Amino acid sequence: MSVAPRTRLALVGCGLISPAHIRAFGSQKERMELVACCDTSLEKAQSAVESAAAIMQEGDAILATMDFNAILADTTIEALDLCLPHHIHKAVTLSALRAGKHVLCEKPLALTPEDCDAMAQEARTQSRILMHGENMRTATNIVTAKRALLAGRVGTIVGIQATYAHWQSEALNKDWRTRPAESGGGHLMDGAIHFVDVLRHLGGEIAGVHAMTAQYRPELGAECEDTAALSFRFEGGHFGQMFASHASRGRGASPVITVFGTEGCLSVEPFGGGSVVLFPREGDRETLLAEHYWQATFDNEVSHFLDVIRDSVALYSTPEDGRENIRVVLAAYESAKSGREVGLPKWSSAKD
Ligand SMILES: NC(=O)c1ccc[n+]([C@@H]2O[C@H](COP(=O)([O-])OP(=O)(O)OC[C@H]3O[C@@H](n4cnc5c(N)ncnc54)[C@H](O)[C@@H]3O)[C@@H](O)[C@H]2O)c1
Repeated sequence: MSVAPRTRLALVGCGLISPAHIRAFGSQKERMELVACCDTSLEKAQSAVESAAAIMQEGDAILATMDFNAILADTTIEALDLCLPHHIHKAVTLSALRAGKHVLCEKPLALTPEDCDAMAQEARTQSRILMHGENMRTATNIVTAKRALLAGRVGTIVGIQATYAHWQSEALNKDWRTRPAESGGGHLMDGAIHFVDVLRHLGGEIAGVHAMTAQYRPELGAECEDTAALSFRFEGGHFGQMFASHASRGRGASPVITVFGTEGCLSVEPFGGGSVVLFPREGDRETLLAEHYWQATFDNEVSHFLDVIRDSVALYSTPEDGRENIRVVLAAYESAKSGREVGLPKWSSAKD
């Protein structure tokens, strides 16, 4: 039986999150070849190549480059993984798609829903894959939780509660992140958007949001909130809440998501060492998943991207998901300003 050639991929953006992506490439080295690491800083590109060379197949030649146009022009490169500042996601994705590349783009997909639609439209025009890089979607415990909900294990959902609170790492690049025109906002757009995705994935679409925001760490951006309390109304009629903060020390009961239902509830701890526990209406709690590792969320994400490209598997995290997450965050910002609930009617784009 002949073995399909490995998918040739380049990493663009070799900053803070890139090591998690590189480790994920290593987990898929039988199916993909990392051809280049590209960054506007050659030093960062070289450092990414060094880490990758240690875990990819022996003999693979990986180029460190600052020349993004050369990556676009190289027709042997089939796919790009973009780990870039938020404000350039759209432009870089469009160029990549137009050059015939499949794209995995880190969250948030873009800064506006219209930009997400333009990216999705370009992917359709070019018949290329655009995957919204939301590692929570491919996290084993979120997948397990979703399966349990679909199997009716909690009955009808009556509410969802989430906490996404921790002290934001000093290592984070504060350059573009502290400027809302580039980052799109503060903790909600950068961190808590992961849980917006989980809430939508587990609870269905969000129909309205009421938000309060606060700032305790101005060093994370003079105009960027680092703390928020959100209330959600879901299309299904149930409610949700989230407390999100980048300014709280000690992980405490965070991150955690609990889905409450008429027949039981489900608790998910989405990051390191996390588990999925079902508390049924009667009897003992049931551990649906005992162990879970943060790195596996990226391994699964890259693995799924390759499945979609190579085996035409249906995309699990779509540009439309990226758009809806951004709509919820932007509605939260609007609500925090006005003090009122902001409704999220069904989006109608050119495609719909
Ligand atoms: N999934 C997660 O858990 C997670 C965690 C952190 C960050 N992220 C996301 O990853 C993305 C990158 O975040 P980060 O923290 O790594 O940012 P970063 O600033 O540390 O890294 C971005 C890199 O892109 C490079 N760059 C900027 N413009 C470029 C260009 N035109 N061409 C090539 N390289 C360019 C920069 O030099 C930098 O090295 C963001 O979308 C962020 O939200 C996701």
